[in-house]
Amino acid sequence: MSVTHAPQTADVLARQDPELAEILLGELHRQSSTLQLIAAENFCSPAVLAALGSALANKYAEGYPGARHHGGCEIVDVAERLAVDRAKSLFGAEHANVQSHSGSSAVLAAYAALLRPGDTVLALGLPYGGHLTHGSPANFSGRWFDFVPYGVDAETGLIDHEQVRTLARTHRPKAIVCGSIAYPRHIDYAFFREVADEVGAYLIADAAHPIGLVAGGAAPSPVPYADVVCATTHKVLRGPRGGMILCGGELAERVDRAVFPFTQGGAQMHTIAAKAIAFGEAATPAFAAYAHQVVANARILAAALADEGIVVTTGGTDTHLVTADPAPLGVDGRAARGRLAAAGMVLDCCALPHADTRGLRLGTAAVTTQGMAEKEMERIAALLAGVVRGEVESVRAREEVRDLVGGFPPYPA
Ligand SMILES: Cc1ncc(COP(=O)(O)O)c(C=O)c1O
Repeated sequence: MSVTHAPQTADVLARQDPELAEILLGELHRQSSTLQLIAAENFCSPAVLAALGSALANKYAEGYPGARHHGGCEIVDVAERLAVDRAKSLFGAEHANVQSHSGSSAVLAAYAALLRPGDTVLALGLPYGGHLTHGSPANFSGRWFDFVPYGVDAETGLIDHEQVRTLARTHRPKAIVCGSIAYPRHIDYAFFREVADEVGAYLIADAAHPIGLVAGGAAPSPVPYADVVCATTHKVLRGPRGGMILCGGELAERVDRAVFPFTQGGAQMHTIAAKAIAFGEAATPAFAAYAHQVVANARILAAALADEGIVVTTGGTDTHLVTADPAPLGVDGRAARGRLAAAGMVLDCCALPHADTRGLRLGTAAVTTQGMAEKEMERIAALLAGVVRGEVESVRAREEVRDLVGGFPPYPA
């Protein structure tokens, strides 16, 4: 097995720094021999990994193509223009900025483009699935802006649209943010646009999670509705770790200046090249089929977990995400995650709306990339429930996980 999947670097690394090479191989082995159910993760392609390990990592490139603060950018300029053109065409956006180092950096730049410190912003509250950048007091967002949280309906778990409208009318926010780390349903972007227009607010869609489904035509696009769309490139979209911003032409300059020089320095050209590769991959019919299979798998997983007695938030999913409360099986999400980790099933805890205990958050992006389908989702749900109930002890569960993932290597030799 190669250490990095970038052939030009793998052998060099193994020879020069065997200690570090061992660590990389160990992580590759962990990813291949356990079940990756973290909703924010995926297996990017060997081509994407190759770009990340390429000579573009050496290049300094402050500024934008054709207007850099460094010499020697004529080749990386082509890479960035390609990434921008592919992102615009993939998402039907007038403008794309592909320099954000992460999803959080993209959100920071979106706020910097549209807001001033002290402005009021409406966003999904953190206990209901809002991200740290949506007003956490531990984050710049909560420190610099006045966030008003909206929530979800206690019965259905669905976004409380009436509350959104009422809070918007009461607080007249400068911006409304829609997007979440754990909301398993489609977001009604047309509704948020209507409310934003009524109160004169900008609409910022933080589509970090669903953007890959959008690319594959398996989820509605925020692009026609939001003033600014922030996203990550490493979740369902299956690119390198990073962020991007999409917007209309009229905000292009403000967004670009908010990314560089306001919130970031030099662009990471190896990552931008890797983003271009991922956008190219995401434009193919094979990726559209993948995105639809991701959703089909999540739906089966949610139904099978419910059959095991686990409470699935909102009663199901429209996306790659399933959030669930294992309490009926006798443990809360934190204890369940511990048992599952010991069994080689890797997933996250999440907040449960209107509950004191934690739930579980699962995603099907990575296992679907591996080629798993409905049958495997049912097998995963049965094993997960057995482990959480304490019926299947961890050694036996690990064996079953190894047997399952053994048939679906993420990077076949
Ligand atoms: C909705 C949302 N916004 C922002 C982010 C931040 O992305 P990153 O971890 O790349 O900073 C995430 C990450 O999960 C997210 O889900």
